[in-house]
Amino acid sequence: MKDFLSVSSCRTDELLELLELSDTLKKYYKKGNRDLCLAGKSLIMLFEKPSLRTRMSFQIAMSQLGGSPIYVKPEDIGGIGKREPIKDMARVLDRMANGIMARTFSHDVVVELANYAEIPVINALTDWSHPCQAMADIMTIREHFGKLEGIKIAYIGDGNNVARSLAFACAKLKMKIVVASPKGYELDKETIQRTNEISAGTTTQINDPALAVKDAQIIYTDTWVSMGQEDEKAKRVADFQGFAVDGKLMALAPKAKIMHCLPAYRGYEISDEAMECPNSIVFDEAENRLHFQRALLKKLMS
Ligand code: CP
Ligand code: NVA
Repeated sequence: MKDFLSVSSCRTDELLELLELSDTLKKYYKKGNRDLCLAGKSLIMLFEKPSLRTRMSFQIAMSQLGGSPIYVKPEDIGGIGKREPIKDMARVLDRMANGIMARTFSHDVVVELANYAEIPVINALTDWSHPCQAMADIMTIREHFGKLEGIKIAYIGDGNNVARSLAFACAKLKMKIVVASPKGYELDKETIQRTNEISAGTTTQINDPALAVKDAQIIYTDTWVSMGQEDEKAKRVADFQGFAVDGKLMALAPKAKIMHCLPAYRGYEISDEAMECPNSIVFDEAENRLHFQRALLKKLMS
């Protein structure tokens, strides 16, 4: 495993090993221990989009492991692929640093970085996927339910990067995901087909949130307007009416845990009541971004 670009390109045993390491290091650090396995190493952190959780968790994890995180905005380097080709940038960073993590619009950018750099490249969210989020979510689910196999997630909303990575994680770990989206915002057919090839019956796409939450242990949602889609906000908000995770939907699955990758837009995809209810585990997910990232950095870079 050189890079971490998508859940789909990892084997099940690799994902399970990362989950085990995340749990182990979480306990180890909570006891006040420190593992300085990345002392003297540097991680380049390239961000084309804003971030709170991903940036802070990588930065803190890298420091906790004794290494140096270096934050780079596209404007600092004259734009990604603008001042010089991505393949040149990748080989320059390869000669200086020990790892690259990148949050980009196009997924092709992280793939090209990984193709030209011999050091590990981590996908910190692209328009296509958000694998670090999915794995922190799975870690959180395992903590709350003590198992993964057979758990059903009802994902309510946009068939976006977050939904796609969750679907691949479910397929690899024998879980189920029912995605309920308005017409025109479903998960792409290729993802549905590929996840069901990995594990038959993993992903179901429907258009009815009430049906999706039936027998679900988890109700998951994400923004209706992802980064880069701001111009479509008015149309999207109109099209997603009836797809909010709120008291009415929660009443159909009263025991289900509520999950959201954050940032949350209260009054749109999730109500304040759902965010703040006792079943909400959204901040456990956010915390586990740190614990998963720490394990990922150790596995790839030490
Ligand atoms: N969930 C997530 O990736 O949050 P940020 O965009 O703040 O990193
Ligand atoms: N789908 C969202 C996730 C943010 C963490 C986006 O891409 O903006």
